[in-house]
Amino acid sequence: MEEAKEAGQIKSIGVSNMTPKIWNQYVPQFKTKPAVNQVECNPFCQQRELRQILDKDDVKLECYYPLGHGNTDLLGHPLVTSLAQKYNKDAGQILLRFETQDGLIVLPKSTNPQRIQGNIQIFDFQLTEQEMEAMRALDTGKTTHDPEADGVEDMLRNAFVIED
Ligand SMILES: NC(=O)c1ccc[n+]([C@@H]2O[C@H](COP(=O)([O-])OP(=O)(O)OC[C@H]3O[C@@H](n4cnc5c(N)ncnc54)[C@H](OP(=O)(O)O)[C@@H]3O)[C@@H](O)[C@H]2O)c1
Repeated sequence: MEEAKEAGQIKSIGVSNMTPKIWNQYVPQFKTKPAVNQVECNPFCQQRELRQILDKDDVKLECYYPLGHGNTDLLGHPLVTSLAQKYNKDAGQILLRFETQDGLIVLPKSTNPQRIQGNIQIFDFQLTEQEMEAMRALDTGKTTHDPEADGVEDMLRNAFVIED
């Protein structure tokens, strides 16, 4: 990827699923710092430790599962539904607004044309600082996918041809 960037074939390099441990293990060996790290991130797992590391390196965090992969405990959380009612938005739009307002990039998915359009209608309202703090308090510090779990590294190494 670094060669492709040097050759002008790509503008930026993005990585994914780099936890603090994986980031610290590999990124110091890179010539080019990644522009973005895409990881699981939503109000239930806010990646606070990773965000401190990325902020220092001026690297953006992009949330996959920004809607909790459709988790109804998250989309139906009383705080989320009350904010949705207050701002006349749906629960998904509240989650995306919170994440964006908190400085994150979001990668939501929907198969529903109305929601696809609605999920970008999050720039015509703003959560108060008190509401942001209440949303931040939903963090459990746990992700549903663990990139450091046994077998993940072997699975990836076996899936690609890695040249030294
Ligand atoms: N880098 C990685 O390792 C990695 C891993 C996982 C996922 N990803 C990527 O992350 C992206 C998102 O993943 P995802 O689709 O699994 O999770 P997601 O975007 O968090 O959740 C999608 C779910 O939310 C529902 N939804 C969408 N908009 C909504 C709204 N406004 N209100 C309520 N529900 C709403 C969708 O249902 P409807 O379709 O019915 O709207 C769907 O069930 C995908 O592009 C995926 O490829 C990357």
